[in-house]
Amino acid sequence: QKPPTPTITQTPTPTLKQTVHGLKFVFSPDKTPPQRVLWLLAFFACLGLLFTWSWNRIIYLMSYPAFTKIKMVWAHNMSFPAVTFCNQNLFRVSRLTKADLYHIGYWMDLMHQNHTVMEGSLSILRDNHKHILLKLLDFHGYTLPPHYHVNTTEMTGRLGHQLEDMLLGCRFQGENCTHQNLTTIYTRYGKCYTFNSGLDGNPLLTTLKGGTGNGLEIMLDIQQDEYLPVWGETDETSYEAGIKVQIHHQEEPPFIDQLGFGVAPGFQTFVSCQQQLLQYLPPPWGDCKSTPIDSEFFTTYSITACRIDCETRYLVENCNCRMVHMPGTSTVCTPEQYKDCADPALDFLVEKDSDYCVCETPCNMTRYGKELSMVKIPSKASAKYLAKKFNRTEQYIGDNLLVLDIFFEALNYEKIEQKKAYEIAGLLGDIGGQMGLFIGASVLTILEIFDYLYEVKIRRSPFFNYLKVFLNTLIKKMKGTRNHHSITLNQFNFRDINLSS
Ligand SMILES: *[C@@H]1O[C@H](CO)[C@@H](O)[C@H](O)[C@H]1NC(C)=O
Ligand SMILES: *[C@@H]1O[C@H](CO)[C@@H](O)[C@H](O)[C@H]1NC(C)=O
Ligand SMILES: *[C@@H]1O[C@H](CO)[C@@H](O)[C@H](O)[C@H]1NC(C)=O
Ligand SMILES: *[C@@H]1O[C@H](CO)[C@@H](O)[C@H](O)[C@H]1NC(C)=O
Ligand SMILES: *[C@@H]1O[C@H](CO)[C@@H](O)[C@H](O)[C@H]1NC(C)=O
Ligand SMILES: *[C@@H]1O[C@H](CO)[C@@H](O)[C@H](O)[C@H]1NC(C)=O
Ligand SMILES: *[C@@H]1O[C@H](CO)[C@@H](O)[C@H](O)[C@H]1NC(C)=O
Repeated sequence: QKPPTPTITQTPTPTLKQTVHGLKFVFSPDKTPPQRVLWLLAFFACLGLLFTWSWNRIIYLMSYPAFTKIKMVWAHNMSFPAVTFCNQNLFRVSRLTKADLYHIGYWMDLMHQNHTVMEGSLSILRDNHKHILLKLLDFHGYTLPPHYHVNTTEMTGRLGHQLEDMLLGCRFQGENCTHQNLTTIYTRYGKCYTFNSGLDGNPLLTTLKGGTGNGLEIMLDIQQDEYLPVWGETDETSYEAGIKVQIHHQEEPPFIDQLGFGVAPGFQTFVSCQQQLLQYLPPPWGDCKSTPIDSEFFTTYSITACRIDCETRYLVENCNCRMVHMPGTSTVCTPEQYKDCADPALDFLVEKDSDYCVCETPCNMTRYGKELSMVKIPSKASAKYLAKKFNRTEQYIGDNLLVLDIFFEALNYEKIEQKKAYEIAGLLGDIGGQMGLFIGASVLTILEIFDYLYEVKIRRSPFFNYLKVFLNTLIKKMKGTRNHHSITLNQFNFRDINLSS
């Protein structure tokens, strides 16, 4: 086998010279040597500019730039958010039994761990004329009922404020609603209620118009007479009277102790909402969390879901129990565990430990911007009427009544989107533009350069020939036993292929 002799008769250089514009003058015999040198310099200057500018663009692409786009979207109807509210008070004092007090006394800073009543708390109670409570606190010779098991969930549900007593009026878009339209949910404030949660077979509500009359209006009696007297400072005592409210998306669990806003009794509060849809980009453009949530309790990722999940895990690890409002199947903390472990642990986690619960921003998020305003209720003119209507004293109405109005400002929402600012297509366009501008070349020119290099360097190089011989003998050996027509690499010469055959 003889290596085929190269059949190139004419140099391919002219093609290259013709496509890359400056080069043709560099090689042109018509030009004087200084002109050629100038052309050569100009060619290299342009080449340098092309490479620096293209490199600049590549660096820009690798920095994953993003920009934020804000637009207002008008909608025909919008789904109403979930509204969760909680009374600031955890337990109703009139419903406490001796057994309840026996267990929660220590938790509420009323008793020592050995179930003797603290002197300081007693003196406050005596001044407060809470005779019922004082009678309950007399534990001389007291033994718990047989088979009594303290159940914090049951206790929170039974002692918390009941919606039937609190809800004096409820309207949504002019339609009356009752306590059955709200669902019960537990939070750190105890028993709370959610309107439009989408649970318990209640369909999601939509609004067709903006403005006060087309939203939710509830009238509540916060039952201040039922508030536990404050005799010490624990996590559960509150100095305030009123409710905490959170407006959130149905897929997001409420996190009312940290994200709720307060509504005071004696006022009608108007909350005008504006929905915002936020869409962030995952890394490397942004830093949102695009992977699904890794949790046994929640299916949709949100910052609150992540934090509740994390707090639950932390408590189960550290106290071997969960709080009433936490999801899961582990045992619920007893009041004693609340006082000794759960409350301090959770406070530490929330206030001090910034490493344990790190929750990334979700890629899709719905938030509600709010504007609050309030007027006094009842007015001097209406106090008598309301007192008569609800069969209470005027004083009671002034101290306990509140009205809350939640509505959309208009039927539009703000869409805030993070978008990729520069992608491969843009890069190609830019580099193409620079190539055209600086050296007048295109992708095909690059292919021609490769073709030229192939012709000049590879086909003529001895290595290519050795390779051919080697492959040829290899193929022959493999097919040697058979006498079929086999195409050898020698016959399979690229030069022999022409399009007409
Ligand atoms: C709300 O709009 C969607 C489509 O935009 C429609 O399918 C739905 O029926 C509307 N709901 C109401 C209550 O009008
Ligand atoms: C209960 O404990 C407190 C302090 O922890 C102590 O002052 C009190 O004497 C104790 N009472 C009884 C009856 O042991
Ligand atoms: C505690 O009470 C709740 C609600 O009443 C009930 O679902 C739960 O099974 C009870 N837990 C125990 C351990 O008895
Ligand atoms: C709604 O309730 C009010 C009283 O709270 C009553 O006067 C009105 O008739 C009720 N409307 C409907 C449609 O039931
Ligand atoms: C409240 O619930 C009743 C029955 O469950 C239903 O007919 C009514 O439409 C609901 N009201 C609102 C405002 O959702
Ligand atoms: C975010 O919402 C957009 C459209 O609303 C949807 O196409 C996208 O899949 C959502 N992304 C995630 C992570 O839920
Ligand atoms: C009003 O309340 C008082 C005690 O609070 C009660 O005795 C009376 O029966 C109530 N009247 C009506 C009409 O409910």
